[in-house]
Amino acid sequence: MKKYLNTPEIYKVNRLEPHSDHKYFAENKIFKLSLNGIWDFSYNGSKVWSKIEVPGHIELQGFGTPQYVNTMYPWDGRENLKPGEVPERINTYGIYQREFEILEDWKNSPVFISFQGVESAFELYCNDNFVGYSEDSFTPSEFELSPYLINEKNTLKVIVYKWCSGSWLEDQDFWRFSGIFRDVYLYTIPDIHIFDSFLTSEIDETFTNGILKNKLKIQYVKKHSANITMKVLDMKKQLVEEIIVPISNNDEIEIKIYMKNINLWSSETPYLYTVETTIYDPTEEIVIEKTYQKFGFRKFYMENNIMKLNGKRVVFKGVNRHEFNCYRGRSITLEDMLWDIKFLKKNNFNSVRTSHYPNDSRWYELCDKYGIYVMDEVNLESHGTWQFPNKISGEKAIPDDNPVWESNLLDRASSMFERDKNHPSILIWSLGNESYGGKNIDNLYNYFKSVDSSRLVHYEGIFWDKRESNSSDMKSRMYATVKEIEEYLNDNPQKPFLLCEYSHAMGNSNGGLHKYTALEEKYELYQGGFIWDYIDQSIMKKNIFGEDYLAYGGDFDDKPTDYNFCVNGLVYGNRVPSPKVQEVKYLFSDFKIYPKEKSVLIKNKSLFTNLKEFLVKYRLLKNGNPIFSDRTIWDLDPEMEKEFKLNLPELYSSGEYTVEVSLHLKEDNFWGNLGEEITFGQYTYKIGETLKNINKDSITIVNGDYNIGVHGKTFEFLFSKSYGALVSLKYKDVEFLEKPLMANFWRAPTDNDRGNKMAQRHYQWKIASMYSSCEDVSLEEINGEAIIKYKYKLYAGEESYCYLTYKVNSLGQLEVTLDYPGFSNLQDLPAFGVTLNLKKKFKNITWYGYGKDENYSDRLSGAKLGIYKKTIDENYSDYVIPQECGNYTNTRWVSIEENNNFGLKISGCDTFEFSALGYSVHELENARHKYELPRVYSTYLNINKVQMGVGGDNSWGAKTLEEYLIKSDQAISFTFKISLNN
Ligand code: GAL
Ligand code: MG
Repeated sequence: MKKYLNTPEIYKVNRLEPHSDHKYFAENKIFKLSLNGIWDFSYNGSKVWSKIEVPGHIELQGFGTPQYVNTMYPWDGRENLKPGEVPERINTYGIYQREFEILEDWKNSPVFISFQGVESAFELYCNDNFVGYSEDSFTPSEFELSPYLINEKNTLKVIVYKWCSGSWLEDQDFWRFSGIFRDVYLYTIPDIHIFDSFLTSEIDETFTNGILKNKLKIQYVKKHSANITMKVLDMKKQLVEEIIVPISNNDEIEIKIYMKNINLWSSETPYLYTVETTIYDPTEEIVIEKTYQKFGFRKFYMENNIMKLNGKRVVFKGVNRHEFNCYRGRSITLEDMLWDIKFLKKNNFNSVRTSHYPNDSRWYELCDKYGIYVMDEVNLESHGTWQFPNKISGEKAIPDDNPVWESNLLDRASSMFERDKNHPSILIWSLGNESYGGKNIDNLYNYFKSVDSSRLVHYEGIFWDKRESNSSDMKSRMYATVKEIEEYLNDNPQKPFLLCEYSHAMGNSNGGLHKYTALEEKYELYQGGFIWDYIDQSIMKKNIFGEDYLAYGGDFDDKPTDYNFCVNGLVYGNRVPSPKVQEVKYLFSDFKIYPKEKSVLIKNKSLFTNLKEFLVKYRLLKNGNPIFSDRTIWDLDPEMEKEFKLNLPELYSSGEYTVEVSLHLKEDNFWGNLGEEITFGQYTYKIGETLKNINKDSITIVNGDYNIGVHGKTFEFLFSKSYGALVSLKYKDVEFLEKPLMANFWRAPTDNDRGNKMAQRHYQWKIASMYSSCEDVSLEEINGEAIIKYKYKLYAGEESYCYLTYKVNSLGQLEVTLDYPGFSNLQDLPAFGVTLNLKKKFKNITWYGYGKDENYSDRLSGAKLGIYKKTIDENYSDYVIPQECGNYTNTRWVSIEENNNFGLKISGCDTFEFSALGYSVHELENARHKYELPRVYSTYLNINKVQMGVGGDNSWGAKTLEEYLIKSDQAISFTFKISLNN
């Protein structure tokens, strides 16, 4: 069988033709028997037989190891291969075996077997007879078993190879697994069977009436004439139209139904008709076969270089989705899919790209039903053949023009097309990912164009192949900057622009997403994109302490590897949403809400939904506390905007007021409950001055040889001269400080920071934060207040220094000012502020500022001004590699408390940023897994004037955008106040 494995031209032997994924039935008849379950298994030539679960991956069930690599081929550095050659030394295989019996009434019918997904190649044997061979991990492989069946018990043997010549086309950036990872079942067919159905429609110009067409391929076990009845039922299961046509042994037939006043399908209004097709034998008066298919009337097309759905310009608010489950790898469950679709709907996504292969059939059914546009992608990626470290070269690229791959690729395309073609959710066929250009790709383009006029075709790879090919209907890019996109759109564009990947969600990321979504309004030809990506590909594993954790590349000693590059999800591997989702949800909403003091402007950017479908709630907050709320329903047609009056109370007392308007579900639905928030808008303004504290008591200053002590009725602070810092902070005789208060300019590098070498460029600020030394201390007493001023040498550059000035008043309020004069020739500062290392018991935070999830200067659109509470544990974000996290911008005050609420309050003269965690920035930086972090022994409260943005255009070099950096050549001053919290 080596010949099959090693020859790109041989990718199937005896495999049956692909067909639509419709289901069929007949009364009192079972057509399908699942073979999922426990099979016997022998790994890689072992004489010992074990057990294995089907579906599932071999490597996640104790045999071999999963390996994560991105661009490089998994055998790189281990075996020298030319494209098409298969590793010998490191290839593995597994033999699956089980017995089965067929049903009594199947004995006179043909029996088939379907494998929905096997990675990467397999041979099939039935009762020791060779049945067939197949490649292409992500589309079904079906064979006929009838000739090999014996009466009683039959044996199936499946030999699954980890790598075959087809693996050269499966170099997607993912875990390299093998095995039978999707469903397996036996099936039979009735005497007359709909082998394939192709549902299409024509819709008139006014989108009112349409023709539904069903092109059927009929398979006969026994030829005889019959009738086919086709019924169309609406969503309420009411009959809309019906037609009966006789068939007399035709192999193909097309049935048309004319329909008036059709309901259109879109992601906003996923209206599905049921097409019920019945094959009926009029002489015997029996139903031979019945199929139920869902059908959506929708028209997707290009008009004036704009992609349109049902007459309207669509903007894709999408995400790339790998099929993933942290326990099961790509062998995901229906439960996972349901969770995913709910998540997408809840968070205002309207589309998904099946990066980078055809998905489990059930996923498309869910997208049809709940309304998610799909870009369905051919299982093709040859990244490692043309992109090498720091260089692109078409020289060794496959498939390019090489005829060796031609039919193999067309087979991959047709297997996907034939299976998926009836799903209205699929709007775009994608020819694969990162496979350069050339004739073979062009063939795929032409193939889709020839078989399907109801969809458009996408391919990004032609951007890299400068031979300029036309193999894409749209201009597709990945990770283009906003500037590059605008250049394209301003230069007489001939195709609409789409980002097949953008805003790389690796670790703490997605900064600057709002710059992309802002293009939607500015350019008609900008049609959105798909965030990279949906879920972390991290695998649940035990660490050396025997605890569960989410592992990434290299954790299985899998080398070579690309480490944590498999972890780029908006959702963590265990399907817990990361804090990045808050931003995406807001920016992807179709409703834009701009309140003012007494009114609100609402822009309804949806295409088919009136605002009255939602409940509008509005409220008024004073200093973060709600003082008034009301609710209403407003009428606003899709694509319209309007200013609505708000009935808010008259205000006189001074304070900070926020007008908040939000949209909510009016009733429970599949993905959310009544009241669930869709989006919101806020407007904040101030009335009058806040009251100044009146200072009545007095302070005592004790200027010792080594310390300056300042105390009053309820407080005592010690400023060390020898140590050069504030070393003790006591209120009511309770010590707050675990370590002295120090200036800090560093943050634990994020994945994006690592990608753009932030540490290598800005390390001077880490040194300044760790090793600054006190040069001078001074004390003054002015107007009954003690003023202690420290000067620190920073070691960031020759002369660099900063000042920390403390002002103590008789109420025990401690005003802290950090001054930095500005020096030239230094890098931008990662952060500007101080670290308060507090006793462990101060682990609860309450704050008035932006929340509820972490936010940064370049990722705060989705944050809401309010009063929030968390513990420092809850504030830690589970990015697989510890890094900067848990930061909040626009803070008015934060209080850090013991369980009984006793604690410190930090308030700003201006708003500020803070984070509170159990780890220092340096501890976070040193760990490569969460379990490497020290036991929590204290609370680190970082109070910053500002921290640089997190960036996210990509994670392999893109820097934080200029406007979210902290310039080092100008003076910066930051003042805040520490006091008791009550
Ligand atoms: C793209 C690629 C994705 C993924 C991403 C980086 O180049 O298409 O599959 O590798 O980069 O996370
Ligand atoms: Mg790739």
